[in-house]
Amino acid sequence: MTDTPQLPPAYRLVALDEIDSTNDEAKRLIGQGAGDGTLVWARAQLRGRGRRGREWVSPPGNLYCSVILRPECTPAQAAQLSFAAALALADGLSPLVPPHSQITFKWPNDVLFNEKKVAGILLESSTAESGRVDWLVLGLGVNVASSPADTAFPATSLHEEGSGPVAVVEVLENFSRHLLTQINRWRDDGFAPIREKWLRRAAGVGEEVTVVLESETLTGEFVGIDETGALIIGLAGGERRTVTSSDVFFGPRAP
Ligand code: BTN
Repeated sequence: MTDTPQLPPAYRLVALDEIDSTNDEAKRLIGQGAGDGTLVWARAQLRGRGRRGREWVSPPGNLYCSVILRPECTPAQAAQLSFAAALALADGLSPLVPPHSQITFKWPNDVLFNEKKVAGILLESSTAESGRVDWLVLGLGVNVASSPADTAFPATSLHEEGSGPVAVVEVLENFSRHLLTQINRWRDDGFAPIREKWLRRAAGVGEEVTVVLESETLTGEFVGIDETGALIIGLAGGERRTVTSSDVFFGPRAP
């Protein structure tokens, strides 16, 4: 391993010391004609973004990258790639963390390490007039050396969980390799095998969760995810609802 990531030939690496946000840079590059497989990696971000307009604190020492993808699919299908990315990260982290570490997933896009958030995925896309996806930017942030304090959901880093000195470059290399595998599998076999693998690592299945929607808050059993990736919640009285976008909290009430 060197300081320069060795990525599979399907990628074109754009390596930067510092940028506002790798997702934003990827979108600017799309405007200049960048194609499928362009991977923007920065050692630090000045305005890293999380889901729902939140800040993603981005000091040097952690991984920040965004991959441009141009899959031939609908926007709903493209959203399934965030589950593929979570699987790719779990597979990529496994050889780098202590044995018996627990790497699990929190719907929709979080990767947990020993029940605390270690990584987040931010998927942004544009749809062509045909209704098909024009481009997709898959952004990934992994807390390698440090994690932010005072987050709503507890956060951690590989270092804080006893992984020793893991190199950011190694996390990027492993993730990018496994992402290709997962994307090829999704292209060939659809979402079903990814869904199945994701559910094996899903946190809180069968337990009580609370989802906060714009107009209501639902508490019930986390039944699983459906064939599109939507969360299925079982309410008291037996009614089942599917939720496509929300924050999910473990337990009866949102903090
Ligand atoms: C979340 O969990 O809220 C998603 C976090 C995504 C953070 C990554 S870091 C690389 C890429 N660039 C950004 O500005 N955000 C994503």
